[in-house]
Amino acid sequence: MAGPVGGAGANPGEVSRSDFPAGFIFGVATSAHQVEGAIHEDGKGDSIWDIFSKIEGNIKDGSNANIAVDQYHRYKEDVELIAKLGFEAYRFSISWSRIFPDGLGHCANEKGIGYYNNLIDYLLKKGIQPYVTLYHWDLPYNLHESEGGWLSEKVVEYFAIYAEVCFTRFGDRVKHWITINEPLQTAINGYSIGIFAPGRRDDPYKEPYVSAHYQILAHAAAVDVYRRKFKALQGGEIGLVVDCEWAEAFSDKEHDKVAANRRLDFQLGWFLDPIFYGDYPAVMRERLRDHLPEFTQRDRDLLRNAVDFIGLNHYTSRLIGHASETTEGPCYEAQEMERIVNWQDGEPIGERAASDWLYIVPWGLRKLLNYIAQKYKHTPIYITENGMDDEEIEAASPNEFLNDQKRVEYFKGYIGSVAQAIRDGVDVRGYFAWSLVDNFEWAQGYTKRFGLVYIDYKNGLTRHPKSSALWFSNFLKNNGDED
Ligand code: NOJ
Repeated sequence: MAGPVGGAGANPGEVSRSDFPAGFIFGVATSAHQVEGAIHEDGKGDSIWDIFSKIEGNIKDGSNANIAVDQYHRYKEDVELIAKLGFEAYRFSISWSRIFPDGLGHCANEKGIGYYNNLIDYLLKKGIQPYVTLYHWDLPYNLHESEGGWLSEKVVEYFAIYAEVCFTRFGDRVKHWITINEPLQTAINGYSIGIFAPGRRDDPYKEPYVSAHYQILAHAAAVDVYRRKFKALQGGEIGLVVDCEWAEAFSDKEHDKVAANRRLDFQLGWFLDPIFYGDYPAVMRERLRDHLPEFTQRDRDLLRNAVDFIGLNHYTSRLIGHASETTEGPCYEAQEMERIVNWQDGEPIGERAASDWLYIVPWGLRKLLNYIAQKYKHTPIYITENGMDDEEIEAASPNEFLNDQKRVEYFKGYIGSVAQAIRDGVDVRGYFAWSLVDNFEWAQGYTKRFGLVYIDYKNGLTRHPKSSALWFSNFLKNNGDED
């Protein structure tokens, strides 16, 4: 693995299970749209992704998630696999349009509820804790089309109704709830660049901020319902999953440090500052002025400390420089006014995975965890996703994918970095690898493989554990010692 750049940080050494405190949870993660398939079965309504994928050019390989990896029919096999590998928890998401096909909160679909009851029961039977995400990007299409989706304040109420049904029907067994996954990606990719559903790029100076605003308020509304009506009775916890890359300043110059910090505010502060400090970061208010919506007093009251934990999806780090001092192309968000560099003194920040945004930089995670702990009041943190992808190459044989040493090194490095952060005093409670299986990688279709388990798409969607799955299993069961 490439070493640290410019003294930015040192990668960790060996790591073992015993480096983690008792009660620390290791799990694997997926999301409904990426794995379930069965998009028209048992009364499920269309989601924005079901419709978005039909439009030519939206998905790289022209594919869709109509079948995906068929977890809807093979959930038992997948749960058995999770158990066999030795993971203690499974993070999955509920498909909103299985529960409310039109999203409008009337007549919950019993067959959809039945599916998740079966999945949860089977997980518990196998000794695996369910960590459940309520929203992982698959908004009911009708809610988008007829009510305006994340651009309308009505979505807040519909989300609260949906959340309440989930708490009522599953909360006797589910003790870890996540409201929304990566609101940043929905705001940017869904409502600014338009490369994710619902594919809007109509008003990139307004819609990302409006869609983010209603996601934040929907999160607060669901937490409010949970805390008022369920928490005491069911004894669970609820949080939000944010995604953030570590932003390392390109140089020691003050304006590069300011730029790196600003980037963290635009990724993380955007969603966490309203919860911890009652408003968007000052630098966002300064730069975006009236593009950024206002919170009412009631919103602020609901938002105050509205997380029991912070869920962090983290994959990579970036070198960030002040816009006029560096040479690479513009940042995806013009409003941020900085440059992503990634190279310094002829060296990349880390080795690259398949996706062009994914550099392997384990030390970045330790820095980010320390930053979050200090800025956000030492709130408990779960790493809710971490992983890397391989490129799907038509000519490659399954064996080439199965022998994924690079991914083994990735996990060793990043998990080691979590252990270091814990030793630094950060309250990290768990770690989820992304992903259990190769799956539908959104606009990239099936061209990118993030799984610990290989899916043979050409041969009946059979599952084959990769070396990384076996490494993990050994790490979990034998403390990392080879047997
Ligand atoms: C984060 C998203 O939550 C997940 O759905 C996606 O597959 C991974 N990133 C990898 O890109």
